[in-house]
Amino acid sequence: MNSTVSRDLAVFLENSPTCFHAVDNMKKALLDEHFTQLEENKKWTLQPGGRYFVTRNDSSLIAFSIPETEMKGMRIIASHSDSPTFKIKENPELEADGKYIRLNVEGYGGMLCAPWFDRPLSVAGRIVIKDSASGQFISRLINIDRDLVLIPNLAIHMNREANSGYKYNAQKDMLPLYGTLSAKGTFMDLIAKSAGVTADEILGHDLFLYNRQKASIWGASEEFISCGRLDDLQCAYASLRGFLAGKRQEYMAVHCVLDNEEVGSGTKQGAASTFLYDTLTRIHDCLGYTREDYLIHLADSLMISADNAHAVHPNHTDKSDPANRPTLNGGIVIKFNANQKYCTDAMSAAMFRDICRSADVPVQTFTNRSDMAGGSTLGNISNTQVALNTVDIGLPQLAMHSPYETAGAEDTGYLIRAAEEFFC
Ligand code: CO
Repeated sequence: MNSTVSRDLAVFLENSPTCFHAVDNMKKALLDEHFTQLEENKKWTLQPGGRYFVTRNDSSLIAFSIPETEMKGMRIIASHSDSPTFKIKENPELEADGKYIRLNVEGYGGMLCAPWFDRPLSVAGRIVIKDSASGQFISRLINIDRDLVLIPNLAIHMNREANSGYKYNAQKDMLPLYGTLSAKGTFMDLIAKSAGVTADEILGHDLFLYNRQKASIWGASEEFISCGRLDDLQCAYASLRGFLAGKRQEYMAVHCVLDNEEVGSGTKQGAASTFLYDTLTRIHDCLGYTREDYLIHLADSLMISADNAHAVHPNHTDKSDPANRPTLNGGIVIKFNANQKYCTDAMSAAMFRDICRSADVPVQTFTNRSDMAGGSTLGNISNTQVALNTVDIGLPQLAMHSPYETAGAEDTGYLIRAAEEFFC
């Protein structure tokens, strides 16, 4: 069962090189299940028992299912669609030594730099063109689906200290090689051609590098899965699968995937934005509920903020807390932090443990070592807009923010089962 889940996850990850592709793939899965797509700039007509989704910026998505009868409250799982990478700048080509063309890139989020070197990479994202007939701006997905660029390391002979720690300079070290001088002036044409337009028609672009290495399921008993973007598409994928499998009858079920978590969530489509608040209040308005009904429902709701967690590293076991040390395939990780970087408290932990108990899914716990500052996530940021009981969880993984991360092959299935139970 879980090898099938891992293979399905691998396909989803490989087909989702950027947040735009991840959202597009979720949108297709929802349309296949007869969900209705809503547009933020058009009137909504919603019915009890109806199933809908809405996107913002084509990079965040909220799907929801309205109970047939009076809702008891809301059940929300929120994850994120973006991952650390390198973004292609405006004026993307740079010459080197009159012989080479490189791409001018800048970092997006806090990536591990070393694993980006010496491996085939490509470019994906979106472009925006203006449709001459309608005058509308149209976004088109881009994926140059072949080995296109590579960031070559400097030979050990030219930096004898390379294995003794290296401070990467994003403007010097991380620029990928695109071609010899004959490639000059061709990059935007290549992008345009892949979308069936000309380079002058491209009025804007959000293009990113991605690792071309396919997903792998490996280990003595094929217990591990490695791929780019496990953080956080593993949670987004499991949330969607559980959402589609759940009964969604008692509570309004909400599958929410937000962009820009890796850069602080402060965009119009990020967790700090009004996207979730706007959507939930609009649903209430369209169904004829009052503002007080919304507040009552919110007080009877639970949000699972699902973002991957650090497993104990086999070569660095001292980096984990002495007692709260998740392992791969050990189950869903509940994250705790006294300073509330994670939202989990006694109440939300209890509610989540109860769900996992009913679903017969193992849970483990994570805290940072008390002498180490940890990362943050979207739960507490989202709570500044929509405040409700929230538990921070994730699936255990290694090498977070590498372009090739590793997780447990069993854990995706655990989150699908827990999500299915949650969306009752
Ligand atoms: Co994350």
